[in-house]
Amino acid sequence: MPYSVLFVCLGNICRSPLAEAAFREEARRLKLDVIVDSAGTGSWHVGSPPDPRAQAVARKNGVDISSLRGRQVKPIDFRRFTHVVALDEDNLANLRRLAPPDATADATAELSLLLDHVEGREGQPVADPYFGDDDGFDLTWADVTAGARGLAQKLRRGD
Ligand code: 4NP
Repeated sequence: MPYSVLFVCLGNICRSPLAEAAFREEARRLKLDVIVDSAGTGSWHVGSPPDPRAQAVARKNGVDISSLRGRQVKPIDFRRFTHVVALDEDNLANLRRLAPPDATADATAELSLLLDHVEGREGQPVADPYFGDDDGFDLTWADVTAGARGLAQKLRRGD
């Protein structure tokens, strides 16, 4: 079965679209057969394009994310995706609450935190850059790139 990965933050306009873009690039480099998407646990930005500062940092790093649109996580995502990857612990906790109970066999996705896939950074959040300044988005890009690399390499090894 090909892998499918859903990245999840709060608004789906800053961190998770950047993680989606970074992971898509990394998967392409490694020739991984994988479906990639992102979503938010919140609903405020459903239908919205990524934050202009997220678009700018992506563009600066050679990726166009302007056509992405925000959406909210839904229960079927836990069955449609093989991996659901949260950007921080709060969103991971919300995902655990939203996931259908294991007993129904509906929740087959493996849940993780993005930086769990980076050696030495397990358990760390990708900080929310929304209320900060532009520099925060460079840090977000660095973090999601590290996480995307680690996850793509794990999937390539079949871990
Ligand atoms: P994201 O950032 O979760 O990385 O997309 C946020 C975007 C919007 C809000 C919070 C975080 N907000 O409160 O609207």
